[in-house]
Amino acid sequence: MATLARPALGPADARAVIDPASYAAWDPLLDLFDRLRTETPVAWVEPENGIHPPFWLLTRYEDAMRVSKDNATFLNNPQTVVFSLSDGIEFAKAFTGGSPHMVASLVTFDAPIHMKYRKLTQEWFMPKNLRGIEGEVRALAEKTVQRLIDAGRSEGAGETKDVDFVKLVSAPYPLHVVMQILGVPEEDEPRMLMLTQQMFGGQDEDLNQSGMKDLPPEVITQIVAGAVKDFEAYFAGLTAQKRANPTGDVASTIANAVIDGEPLNDRDMMGYYIIVAAAGHDTTSASTAGAMLALARDPEQFARVRADRSLLPGIVEEAIRWTSPVQHFMRTAAEDTEVGGQRIAKGDWLMINYVAANHDPAVFDDPRRFDAARQPNRHLAFGAGAHQCLGLHLARLEMRILFETLLDRIERVELAGEPKRAKSTFVGGLKTLPIRFVAA
Ligand code: HEM
Repeated sequence: MATLARPALGPADARAVIDPASYAAWDPLLDLFDRLRTETPVAWVEPENGIHPPFWLLTRYEDAMRVSKDNATFLNNPQTVVFSLSDGIEFAKAFTGGSPHMVASLVTFDAPIHMKYRKLTQEWFMPKNLRGIEGEVRALAEKTVQRLIDAGRSEGAGETKDVDFVKLVSAPYPLHVVMQILGVPEEDEPRMLMLTQQMFGGQDEDLNQSGMKDLPPEVITQIVAGAVKDFEAYFAGLTAQKRANPTGDVASTIANAVIDGEPLNDRDMMGYYIIVAAAGHDTTSASTAGAMLALARDPEQFARVRADRSLLPGIVEEAIRWTSPVQHFMRTAAEDTEVGGQRIAKGDWLMINYVAANHDPAVFDDPRRFDAARQPNRHLAFGAGAHQCLGLHLARLEMRILFETLLDRIERVELAGEPKRAKSTFVGGLKTLPIRFVAA
């Protein structure tokens, strides 16, 4: 029998779950999820003073998997797919003329339209097609690793200066890759980065370089509106170019796409470019930094994988589970239903928490341990079901190629200080990773 009462979290727990700062303190966050998974695995999170709509928090792997896979009962509409405060939701509705989604994209569509859009680029992101871009990705990896080695070079023989792996490698490299597949030239990358930050208003003050924190709402509205217009203008130019001269990259595929005999409209086309640019960047940065953290903490593991590259896929997969860069997505119940023995009402909002699910001891032995030999490693970091990450093969390929390049050029690596995590409820991960290394 499903429970009717809604087991609500206490105010302190409810606050912790939605506070970006909680996600910067990893072990306490995992402690919280461990306790909630035991006490209230399907927990009702009530807002204080209505600052956000209430929602169900899922911390068990099994429940997260079920909700992810049942795309008929758990929709990506009408509530938002990313946790948002009520003010943000109202702002988006005013801005878009009714939709709570700032950008219309794959993650904000449900069946049947979702699959029609997804099919446009699905083939492009498959391993067979990606083989064709391996050479370009490797060139970017080599350039990035060279920059790391140059930055770390010091006067003393064999020794290097301490450097920040995030700044030099894990942040810029995935950005270069997505910009390359979108056909954005390198000199336009800072503009793209700034526009994405302005549109999504980062929660971490160090990462949000757009200076939007603490500005009055009407000024923020103008900045966001300006960013959307700027994006539109930029991608309109790119679209015209890719229609005149298709080049086989993902931007050409989007620019020349046709659904039910019609080209995409401007909002949908822009949303497609933006989702690829945004989804493929911070996520892979976070898992790449996570892999380096695990290796820097464990010199023996570093030496082992240097000698035996067949260990690399296991390291990449475990880094993706262990970091869980996308920390949640939300769903809305399409009908009265049940999750984990709890009654869920039609219209209820649910948070699939990937961090909690990927640290569920019912599925992962000793989940906080980085275990590159974990078999099987059926983590949920890429989600599951109809919306499962479109870029998962690309993310793995990028990481494998980067680490192949790194392992060729670096003999030893160690931590040179305490890494810092980003304050963010949505995409998280390291914002600094001080290392020192010995070049090969
Ligand atoms: C380690 C890196 C990455 C992680 C952890 C990650 C994670 C995710 C997750 C959790 C979802 C939602 C899944 C769901 O709702 O069930 C998603 C969707 C998506 N991801 Fe990724 N992602 C990564 C890299 C990438 C890359 C490199 C790209 C492309 C350049 C990409 C493009 C997308 C797109 C387009 C979607 C929407 C798919 C849909 O709604 O049909 N992601 N990703």
